[in-house]
Formats: sequence, structure tokens, C-alpha cells
Amino acid sequence: MWLVSAGLLLSVAVTVFGVSFCIQRAIQRNSIFSQECLRTPAPLVTDQKKRDEVLKRGFRMDRIPVNLDAVVIGSGIGGLSAAAVLAKAQRKVLVLEQHDQAGGCCHTFENQGFEFDVGIHYLGQLHENSLLRVVLDQITEGQLQFSQLEEHYDTMIIGQGSNRRDYHVHAGKTEMRDSLVRQFPEDVEAVDELMRLMKLSSRHTPLLASLKMMPLWLANFLIRTGLLDRISYIFRLASTSHSHMITKLTKNKDLQALSAYLFYGVPPKDSSFLINALLLHHYKRGAYYPRGGASEFAFHIIPVIRKAGGAVLVRAPVQRILIDQKGAAYGVIVKKGQEEIEVHAPVVISDAGIFNTFEKFLPAEIQAKNEIQSILGMVRHGMGSFLVFVGLNGTKEELGIVPTNFWMYKHNDLDLLIEQYSSLNRDEVVGNIPMMFITFPSAKDPSANTRHPGKSCMTLLTMAKYEWFEEWKDTKLSRRGEEYENLKMNMAKELLEWAFLIFPQLRDKVVFMDAATPLTNMHYLGAPHGEMYGAEHNLHRFSPEVVAQTRAQTPVNGLFLTGQDIFCNGMAGALHGGLLCASAVLNHIVYIDLLALKRQLKKQKSLNRA
Ligand SMILES: Cc1cc2nc3c(=O)[nH]c(=O)nc-3n(C[C@H](O)[C@H](O)[C@H](O)COP(=O)(O)OP(=O)(O)OC[C@H]3O[C@@H](n4cnc5c(N)ncnc54)[C@H](O)[C@@H]3O)c2cc1C
Ligand SMILES: *[C@@H]1O[C@H](CO)[C@@H](O)[C@H](O)[C@H]1NC(C)=O
Repeated sequence: MWLVSAGLLLSVAVTVFGVSFCIQRAIQRNSIFSQECLRTPAPLVTDQKKRDEVLKRGFRMDRIPVNLDAVVIGSGIGGLSAAAVLAKAQRKVLVLEQHDQAGGCCHTFENQGFEFDVGIHYLGQLHENSLLRVVLDQITEGQLQFSQLEEHYDTMIIGQGSNRRDYHVHAGKTEMRDSLVRQFPEDVEAVDELMRLMKLSSRHTPLLASLKMMPLWLANFLIRTGLLDRISYIFRLASTSHSHMITKLTKNKDLQALSAYLFYGVPPKDSSFLINALLLHHYKRGAYYPRGGASEFAFHIIPVIRKAGGAVLVRAPVQRILIDQKGAAYGVIVKKGQEEIEVHAPVVISDAGIFNTFEKFLPAEIQAKNEIQSILGMVRHGMGSFLVFVGLNGTKEELGIVPTNFWMYKHNDLDLLIEQYSSLNRDEVVGNIPMMFITFPSAKDPSANTRHPGKSCMTLLTMAKYEWFEEWKDTKLSRRGEEYENLKMNMAKELLEWAFLIFPQLRDKVVFMDAATPLTNMHYLGAPHGEMYGAEHNLHRFSPEVVAQTRAQTPVNGLFLTGQDIFCNGMAGALHGGLLCASAVLNHIVYIDLLALKRQLKKQKSLNRA
């Protein structure tokens, strides 16, 4: 009896959503995307003045466009992509950025002739006509170019000295599986099952997105009745712990570690199997790096926003969101020197994350509302990152460095390793850093050696807790005092020494070194606790309730969220945030337009071939 009624309810629910989807589709005759906007990529702009004119245009009253349709807080990929999609739909949008250049995690900086990127090391899912590629082409009019890393794009190194094991991760429809099988010949079944679950996760991710787009009552209905689990296994995978799942697949501790090697600060036992599967799957069709460096994203998206009458202005820290008497957002307050300037728009979009938006920008009485508190109660601050930027004297050939990335772990029990690391006190950190990522940005970019001849870069990355640095949170950049500097530099040296074990030839080639702590992320990225990836990616965050609630619409009319906090981390995750946000603002599912364009492009390609 129960089964019958459940089946009935399921079909009713699916029909309701299906019908509304079809109606949308019928109404949506005018796609906002088209092939016509695509232009052959222009030569790389290396003139710093020309780049600054786009990336560093300062906030000024006379630069605020009149009759704005929307104002966006933050120029990360989440903010820029939402703004650009709105621009495609002829909306006039102003993006406000607190830093002195646009891009958020996609910004780059130069020091002593070395150029470093901050938050883009490599990207996946960029093969021809992939959804991500089609979107990026649309919002840059086809101007972004990528170079592909080698097939062997990642190495995971477990242990040290005589106990060191190196595992290689290869990209390719079959190569990823085949190379893993070669390295774990006893675990063929486990590898195949992992591959199957990765594929399933990726194919069904749109369902996760639709949970964020369908009316909240429908989402809640599907969740409460348990119907969601009948629609797809993906929701079960999302709320299953990675360790729980992987220990069922294999007893091999190294393979278990490899299945969760892309660290983000949460031990596998507290992380969602789905997210780890998606992260692994992300690079399956190849790993890529933006030609010209990470600042190319903002550099090519901004002109599209400007074309529709909008602007992207920097040195524009937003202090508050303006709320009218009916409780709707109608603009923001920006600080300029000692002045507070109001910018009005009927739609306010925030790319600054859930915490900044709800806890910092909203007036106290709105913040206190149950609906807001309930969303805040669902998320936690994610762990911070620690970066070391190393400038090397020589070309990649001279130095013998490679595009491949290295993920290092002191041992293979990642649950224990991450848990122990994050429970350390500040004075125990130095000497006890158990994991690290090594990458050579300049080796991945064919234009690097012409832009910065004879110079190469190495970036080292690990996680770090905000609490270790909290004492200095109110000090000013580069004037934080000796104790802070010592902690920072000792951590940096430890990572550098570890890197020299793998690349001993680099020891006497280091001509520049600096490091970034969670406080650096606070300063340049506006991350309230120096988070690396915004809200923590723990198991709870991917439970269907939280997935449905962390959406673009907020309990405040006219206020929308975008970026990584409403989907997941990574350039791709934040970009999906932008698409979800634009869909909500326009009340138009932009994914439908994208899928139609994608289909059209695919068809053309096969016609051209024939
Ligand atoms: C060290 C590191 C390495 C990474 N490596 C990769 C990688 O290899 N591949 C990958 O895909 N992803 C990577 N990521 C993740 C990826 O970069 C991010 O998930 C993504 O870019 C986040 O985009 P976003 O728009 O959500 O947020 P952000 O890029 O953080 O943008 C938020 C913006 O809001 C601004 N802001 C905040 N407060 C205010 C305010 N009051 N007023 C005005 N503006 C404000 C900030 O300054 C910032 O520009 C990495 C991240 C880090 C930190
Ligand atoms: C870089 O290397 C070259 C050649 O080996 C050397 O002449 C030069 O002094 C080095 N530069 C620095 C800054 O060490």
C-alpha cells in the first residue's frame, strides 16, 4: 500500500516539475546565448596599462552607470559570470570589488618580475563543447584559450624516504581507469566501481542543481517523503561519508587515500563521497591551464559586462546592503575613503559568500530572522589555506620542472592525518605539516616564458586554521609583527624543504619567496575566516536539505547569492553558482539555453566532419 502511494506521489511530483520545466522551455523561445558572439581569440594582451584599464578601474561616483538593473558584490568568477549572463540578457550590471583588481580567486599578482596566480592551478571539463567550455566561450565571446597539461597530470606521493610510494593519475576516457588498474592490479573491481560511481555522480549532478532551482516547497516535499532517493542514487551518494563508501570498495589503504587526494580541509570520513567523486571526475577528460594566466578570466569577461552598459569597479568595499521598509534589498553602501556612498539597484547579488552576506552586510533586525538564522545554522567556516610563492631563476627546461602537479602526504591514513593536523595548537604546527601540494604555474603556460623570460614559478599549498593566526586579525598587511612573520616563514621553510626532497635541483635557484596565510585571504579575497573554499565542504552541507536551501534566492526579496557557497568549490563550482544565480534573477533557466547551444554546436561539428 505504502509503495503504491509513494509511487503515485513520486509521479505527481515529477510531473509537476516536468510540466513547469516544459512551460519554461516553451516560453523561453529567446535564448540569451548564441554562436554569433564568438570571435577568433585576439592575441594575448601583455601591455600592463591595457590590462589595468580593464582589471583595475577604480570606484568613482561618475563611473556608476545610471539606471542599473543589478549590483554585484565581489568580482570572483561567481560574481563576474552572473553579471555577464545578465549582460547577455541586456541587463546593466555594476560589479563592485573590494580589492584593487578584479577576479577574486582568479586574480594574479607580480613581485620582482614573477607572476603568481592565487586560486587557479588547473581546471577540468574543458574539452570541446563541454558545458563549461560553452559557458566560458559565451561569457568571454570565445576569447579564453587553454593549454592542456600532459596526460599524466597529477602525482600523489605517500610517505617519505625508503617508504615513498608514487602514484600517477592520468586523464582520458579510458586512461584514468587503465592507469589505476596498472598501479592497483589487485583492485580492478574497486577501480571499476569507483569509475562507475564517478560517472554516475557527474551525469546526475544536474539533479542537484535542479533541487536548488525548483520551488522550495517542492524540494522539501521530495525530501520529506523520501521520494528524492527514488529519483536518483546521487542524493544517497551525496550524504554518504567518503570513508564509509571507499572502505567498502577496497581494503587497500593507498587506493583509499588516492580516492580522496584532492584535499580541501575535511577528513574523508566527514566529507561527501559525491564531492570527492566529482572532483576526481572533473579532470577525467583532461586537465587545463588558462593561456596567459588566471587573470585572463576577468580580463575577458569584463568587456561583455561593459558592452551592455555595465561596469566593474575595484577598491569598492561594500559595507552594507540597503533594505527598504518592505524588507526588500534596493542597493548597497560602498566605502570610499571616509565617505559612504549609496548605489541603488532593484537587484543585489552577493559573491562574497553566505557569511559576509548575512552576517556582515545585512542590518541586525533582518539578520535575526529565522529563515536567515536557519541557513547560517547549516554552514560552517571552511578551513584556511597556506601558500608559498617561490620565484626560480631559469626556464622550465633549465630547471627540469614539469606541468604535472604533486600531492604529498606523510602517510596514507587521511582521516587521521587531517584530523590530527587540524587539532594542532599554533605552537605545534611548525614541524608537523602532513600534506602539501606542489605546482609550477609557469611550466603549464606556453606564454609564460615570453611574458617573463628566464623566470619560473613554484607554488606550494597546504591547509591552515584561521585560529592559528586569529590573534593578528586586526593588524595591517605587512605590519603584523615579528611573531606572525616567524610563524609564517617557518611554515614556508618547512614546505620548501619538503619540496626540495622531490626537486633537489631547485635549492640554489630560489630568488624570491613569500607566503600567504588565512589572514592574507581575508585581506585580498574578503574571506571572513581566510577560508580556502568558502563554507566548509562537510557531509552535512551536501545533505538534500542543505543543498536545497543553499540556493541563489535568499529570504530577502531582491537579494541573491552566487559563487562557490551555493554550489561547490572550484572555478566550475563557482561558475555554476553564477548560472544558478542568473537563472533566479532572470526567472529563466539559462541551462536550457546552454544545453540547446551545446547540442547545436555538437551537430555542426559532426556535419563538418562528414
Ligand atoms: C589556493 C587556492 C587554490 C585553488 N585552486 C583551484 C584550482 O586549481 N582549480 C579550481 O577549479 N579551483 C581552485 N580554487 C578554487 C576556486 O578558485 C574558487 O572556488 C572560485 O574561484 C571561487 O569563486 P567565487 O566567485 O565563489 O569567490 P571568490 O573568487 O573568492 O570571489 C569573491 C569576491 O568577493 C570579494 N568581496 C568580498 N567581500 C567584499 C566586499 N565587502 N565588497 C566587495 N567585494 C567583496 C572578494 O574580494 C572576492 O573578489 C582554488 C582556491 C584557492 C584559494
Ligand atoms: C640567474 O642565473 C644566471 C645564470 O645562471 C645568473 O647569471 C644570474 O645572476 C642569476 N640571477 C639571480 C637573481 O640570481
